[in-house]
Amino acid sequence: MLRNLLAGTRKSLRYFSSDIISVKWKKRDGSEIVTKGKIGQNILRLAHEYDIELEGACEGVCACSTCHIILEDKVYDNLPEASEDEEDMLDQAFGLTATSRLGCQIKLTKEHNGMLIKIPSATRNFYVDGTFLLYN
Ligand code: FES
Repeated sequence: MLRNLLAGTRKSLRYFSSDIISVKWKKRDGSEIVTKGKIGQNILRLAHEYDIELEGACEGVCACSTCHIILEDKVYDNLPEASEDEEDMLDQAFGLTATSRLGCQIKLTKEHNGMLIKIPSATRNFYVDGTFLLYN
């Protein structure tokens, strides 16, 4: 019986550890940080867990562009297409690039392990007060 209990615990731990991936961030000040995220977690929530400056003014309902992130080509190319709402919000983002997405709309997958996320140098927040915020 004890042997079965230990085997079950070991399987649970294996499941838990395979559910966690590593995500590297390049912050506005140029410094980098490595975080651990859970499969299925959205990128905005992961940033907030680690106090990374990714505002998320609309709290993830795709009504602002303050969670704008820049992804590596290989990560961007393998994501599902952005929705029309996400595209509309991205059009408002400061410093839009060909690999820009909204962090609240992207859920972590196993394939994201080791990816690098860049935080743009500024953000535009029309959702709350119409202001343009510039960092650095
Ligand atoms: S937090 Fe507003 S669109 Fe992502």
